[in-house]
Amino acid sequence: MRILITYSTTEGQTRKVSRFCADQLVSQGHSVELLAASDADDVELALFDAVILAGSVHVGHVQDVLARVAETHAPALNGKPGLFLVVSLAAAGNEPADREDLDRIAREFTRATGWTPGRIEHIAGAFRFSEYDFFRSMAMRWIAWQRGETIDTQTDREYTDWPALAAMIIDWAETNAPLPERAARSVRAAGPV
Ligand SMILES: Cc1cc2nc3c(=O)[nH]c(=O)nc-3n(C[C@H](O)[C@H](O)[C@H](O)COP(=O)(O)O)c2cc1C
Repeated sequence: MRILITYSTTEGQTRKVSRFCADQLVSQGHSVELLAASDADDVELALFDAVILAGSVHVGHVQDVLARVAETHAPALNGKPGLFLVVSLAAAGNEPADREDLDRIAREFTRATGWTPGRIEHIAGAFRFSEYDFFRSMAMRWIAWQRGETIDTQTDREYTDWPALAAMIIDWAETNAPLPERAARSVRAAGPV
């Protein structure tokens, strides 16, 4: 498939997540274009078979620049297999209230933009103290404290589960591949007789 990945990031983790997804998809034989949401206003969606939008949560909200892309292109996006990746720190835990909150944030994004992706996945992000100014650093220390964690503010800390992300993205691509490609894959998997 020809797949577009458009992302928005504030401290860089969603860019890293998006690049990783692109690498996984390319290794499976797909062709991928990776585009920052700020450069995606006039993207030609007809060139793609499937689309991934990825953004991160800051103060209960995914970046407006990504929402703008989703809203502008909603009619075209809704005609293709779509995956919404939502990167956050809440996704690193198992708190039911945090999960409900993330679901609400994703639902609010899709309701406000009119984009209805076939699949939404929450991805654990990172503390990136190397990118924070003083106030963000204080806010993140407070979030860490709320989560019952002691963190070293001299070191970035990543919670993204890369093997799980690889498995999920490959599963998504296989589920959405056009039927002849799926058939070819199962023949290849079966091997020669
Ligand atoms: C100022 C600030 C506010 C944040 N607010 C939230 C939040 O409301 N919920 C959450 O789960 N994570 C929150 N995070 C954590 C980010 O979602 C996480 O660090 C993510 O990895 C950022 O991705 P990015 O580097 O692509 O922007 C916040 C981070 C910062 C710096």
